[in-house]
Amino acid sequence: MNASARLARAATIDDLRGLARARLPRMVFDYIDGASGMEATARRNRSGFDRFLLRPDIMADVSSIDLSTTVLGERLAMPFVIGPTGLNGAFWPEGDLCIARAARAGQVPFVMSTAATSGLDPVVAVAGPLRWFQLYLFRDRALVGTLLERVRAAGFTVLQVTVDTPLAGRRNRDIRNGFSLPFRWSVRNLLDTALHPGWALQMLGAGTPRLRLFAEFAGQPGCGQTIAQVLQQQISRSIGWDDVAWLRAQWPGKLVLKGVGLPAHIRQAVAAGVDGVVVSNHGGRQLDGAPSTIETLPCLVDAAAGSGLELLIDSGFRCGADAAKALALGAAAVQLGRPTLYGLAAAGEAGVRHALRILADDLALAVALSGASTVAGLRGKVDPG
Ligand code: FNR
Repeated sequence: MNASARLARAATIDDLRGLARARLPRMVFDYIDGASGMEATARRNRSGFDRFLLRPDIMADVSSIDLSTTVLGERLAMPFVIGPTGLNGAFWPEGDLCIARAARAGQVPFVMSTAATSGLDPVVAVAGPLRWFQLYLFRDRALVGTLLERVRAAGFTVLQVTVDTPLAGRRNRDIRNGFSLPFRWSVRNLLDTALHPGWALQMLGAGTPRLRLFAEFAGQPGCGQTIAQVLQQQISRSIGWDDVAWLRAQWPGKLVLKGVGLPAHIRQAVAAGVDGVVVSNHGGRQLDGAPSTIETLPCLVDAAAGSGLELLIDSGFRCGADAAKALALGAAAVQLGRPTLYGLAAAGEAGVRHALRILADDLALAVALSGASTVAGLRGKVDPG
């Protein structure tokens, strides 16, 4: 079976994960798939969904389903956002551009990461109008100011500041695999690569991926470090509410904090004039032992009630029913990390488009079988198990 036939037969995000696993060397697949510590939070990000049950409502006119919705003042064709992920060029050549193009086709936002392997200008050249940016707060605030000016001038409208990474999680798979930047070619890794010639030939052609914005704004990272170590070296360990106030003054567009999980922080975010938060545990890649995001969502929705703060959510979403549960509980949209990355690693832009299609079709079905015809109509159609 050829690659496009294999892609066409991928019915679920897990099928795409299987294709990604087959194509990537293990060290690269593990970088995407892995989480921190014992990976307990990553597992719980999946099992947490079982606590909530959708209501199978009937006798409603569901002859047409409209998934479009407004998030942070922008119109999305469906309530999904392709979240920020670093090192995309290691999964497919020019991975950031593949994702940006697929997001444009799907009319959903692409959140470009500070750890992107493409520069701002090439992304802007292919991205659609739904162009968001994720900031890791560098230690040097003057550099942050310069970066934000460039980001704003490039037409990015929403700034997501990642606040759950003052220290990078301990990703044991990366340590075991010796997954570092630039790639460290141990005998084991060379063998691993040789067994995945499709990926290896593409990478030979494209060259070793580099963290372009880090290189430009924070200096070249040292050699032979895990990605976590690179981040740790450059990112501020002391992000506080005074920094949020500073960012609020710097950034005239919508400001979002990514990595919020406690009601007290929702109230502080509102007081700081923030427009939204992403309820996130970084896909289980940061504090291992934290609860799943879907479990914490109801109390965060309560804390935000009446404030106008919008709650996006990520971590563990793999099918339409997962997204329907979050939307029914009050989330404005679901951000995707690994689902679209598995698609990218499986088949580049076509794989990302396929991931979005799977999730859109699946969500439309969940909406209809819940007796709703719009995203807003889902609200409240969920019971805690
Ligand atoms: C991430 N994530 C992430 N977050 C962020 O704010 N900046 C970044 O550069 C990255 N990089 C990154 C790389 C990879 C390979 C993964 C898997 C994740 C976290 C990401 O935005 C998101 O929070 C989680 O991936 C959501 O969980 P799921 O959808 O992967 O389960």
